Amino acid sequence: MTSATSMPATFDVQRVRADFPLLARSVHGKPLVYLDNANTSQKPLAVIEAMNTHYREHNANVSRAVHQLGEEATAAYEGTRDKLARFINAPSRNELILTSGTTQATNLVAYSYALPRLKPGDAILTTVMEHHANIVPWQLVAARGGATVKAAPISERGELIVEKYLDMLTPEVKLACVTHVSNVLGTVNPVREIAKECRRRGIPLLVDGSQAVPHRPVDVQALGCDFYAFTGHKMLAPTGTGALWARREHLEAMPPFFGGGEMIREVRFSGTTFAAPPHKFEAGTPNIAGFVGMAAAIDYYQSLGFEAIHAWEQQLLAYATERLREIPGLRIVGEAAEKEPVISFLIDGAQATDLATLLDLEGVAVRSGHHCAHPLMQFYGVPSTLRASLAFYNTREEIDAFIAALLKVRQLLR
Ligand code: ALA
Repeated sequence: MTSATSMPATFDVQRVRADFPLLARSVHGKPLVYLDNANTSQKPLAVIEAMNTHYREHNANVSRAVHQLGEEATAAYEGTRDKLARFINAPSRNELILTSGTTQATNLVAYSYALPRLKPGDAILTTVMEHHANIVPWQLVAARGGATVKAAPISERGELIVEKYLDMLTPEVKLACVTHVSNVLGTVNPVREIAKECRRRGIPLLVDGSQAVPHRPVDVQALGCDFYAFTGHKMLAPTGTGALWARREHLEAMPPFFGGGEMIREVRFSGTTFAAPPHKFEAGTPNIAGFVGMAAAIDYYQSLGFEAIHAWEQQLLAYATERLREIPGLRIVGEAAEKEPVISFLIDGAQATDLATLLDLEGVAVRSGHHCAHPLMQFYGVPSTLRASLAFYNTREEIDAFIAALLKVRQLLR
């Protein structure tokens, strides 16, 4: 093995693992090796307990009641907005819409920003490596507006062909979209460069940050995009949490998408007026306890620090890649120069889903299938891949256990 085998002494992964109760369980009588983090992350005790405490001690609806509990719940919910704004360095807390996840965020932009602007002949640009939440909403609104969705190509190595993306930024493109990090390939896209070119052409850029926020510090001002969408459940927070950051001028110009309580100023049958952003886009009772948990997730990331997280994850990625490459007949799908710790692969003569099912019996949780990225599978000409996606709480020993299990189950399929 190479240098990837020497891990830094500064990251105490065993101490970190003790914060995640689920990691101690076994599956089918084997110690769990959880390598499906790109699908959803496990949750630290701090997140679980923050939600528990919220329901035990502070539960009330937000922004409606003047009583003490209502004030506590509102302070907690709005406190998460403040934390999230700092987490991604948003210029203002009022530019952060709390959503149920990336899908709600991209749909909000599709219906509220893109649809009113689309006319026949217009286009929305996305890429071949996107997951469906950064494709299907655009298709739905493009169909309504007589527009089309164009997809920028990638190379065989799984890197976006940036020159082609920029060539495709033609005047009829009303919105450009790109993922920050591919959920299948792990590829990190050059968002700053793309954003700069989009701005030069006056085309707003939406970045899907779902797979970036769990692994790296994000600074939306430095990136220079217009919209940044992400989900909480892949970054230690509860399911049903997420956010959309958007530039103030876009939010002010966008009509609301969901109507109901919380998003209004005054309702009359002669005409309703709306609250200012962000509340204009947050109709109904939100996932208050979930966002309390999300605040705890952010605190947890900050207690570890992204520098340490990134260093550890990159070493795990290098080690896992190296071990997988030793297996004859195994092909890694996605060999970009800059990656987050996601490894998709295929093994000659074995179906990904069969392998994943057998790996589960060995206690190893990986994802098989299309990973909600059909066009990417079509690009590679395969129905599915097997994907191991790592988090900072994974260990080198778990990678060894995964490789041993993979070698064993592969034998069974021969
Ligand atoms: N949750 C999906 C994944 O596994 C998108 O990557």
